[in-house]
Amino acid sequence: MIEVNNLSKHFGPKVAVDDLSLSVKKGEVLGFLGPNGAGKSTTMRMITGYLPPSSGSVSVGGADIQDDPNSAKAKIGYLPESAPLYLDMTVSSFLNFAAELRGMAGGVKKEAVDKAIETCFLQKVRHQAIDTLSKGYRHRTCLAQAIIHDPEVLVLDEPTDGLDPNQKDVVRNLIKEMGKTKAIIFSTHILEEVEACCSRAIIIDQGRIVADGTPDELRRRATRAGQVQVQIHGTSGDAIKAELSRLSHASGVDGESTASGFTGVVKPRKAARGVLAGEISTLCQSKGLQIIELHEDLGRLDDMFRELTSQGKA
Ligand SMILES: Nc1ncnc2c1ncn2[C@@H]1O[C@H](COP(=O)(O)OP(=O)(O)O)[C@@H](O)[C@H]1O
Ligand SMILES: [Mg+2]
Repeated sequence: MIEVNNLSKHFGPKVAVDDLSLSVKKGEVLGFLGPNGAGKSTTMRMITGYLPPSSGSVSVGGADIQDDPNSAKAKIGYLPESAPLYLDMTVSSFLNFAAELRGMAGGVKKEAVDKAIETCFLQKVRHQAIDTLSKGYRHRTCLAQAIIHDPEVLVLDEPTDGLDPNQKDVVRNLIKEMGKTKAIIFSTHILEEVEACCSRAIIIDQGRIVADGTPDELRRRATRAGQVQVQIHGTSGDAIKAELSRLSHASGVDGESTASGFTGVVKPRKAARGVLAGEISTLCQSKGLQIIELHEDLGRLDDMFRELTSQGKA
């Protein structure tokens, strides 16, 4: 549904987006991750046709955003970074207005407004003026505006920014639910968001893609993924360390030896889940050693994020 090919954007000498390609299918929620200034908003503004690219192309549902902007834009719901709202309108009049802009009228319009209000849990405030709403409700009003025409594609720029934890949860669940039938790309710098609602994530840094995969695949790329934390007793630490070093799946052993045991980490040759831990466990059984702790690190998304982006290198 979304095809981005070799997209670049230069602001004078500054390269904000650098030869970026990606695609999002129907039924897919793509998390677009990156530190501040990575180029997320600029990319999304180009995808939605609000900013012309310096080079490259975007097509949405088969329509090129440059050559055929009307049919492309009709398929898109967009929640921009700083969402436009008419503060003196009520929620319901604002959504009616948004529906009219999308060419709806009469019963169709009423149905669309009611549906958006229901989907975004706005029933309680539908007759309230927007400037009297709390931030969470304002935000959901913007989201309701973005989905008013039941678009096949949703582009959401930091949809949970500034919300409290409960509100974040509501919006994440909404995204997840809508992702079953739409193609969604949403940006965030919050890693737990990716775990909570994405089928896939792309990490960008300085305008370039530095990683692309399922949250699980990305997690496994963290340096510590697959390492096994151990505490083993029963003989001298040095002897235990020597045994651990000889294991076929171990690439290295680090830690503290005492007269009665060893505490440290065993690094894997390859992060294959459970294999190294199993080998350690078998070793201890056969030598009559006592396992106090045996814990495989599954990898942490934020480790990987720090390792891959300039934020971590700074
Ligand atoms: N209109 C603009 N003019 C000049 N520089 C811009 C403009 N918009 C964005 N930038 C720069 O492009 C880079 C990417 O910005 P942005 O896409 O907003 O990042 P993100 O949304 O990931 O935080 C930043 O360095 C930003 O300062
Ligand atoms: Mg941004």
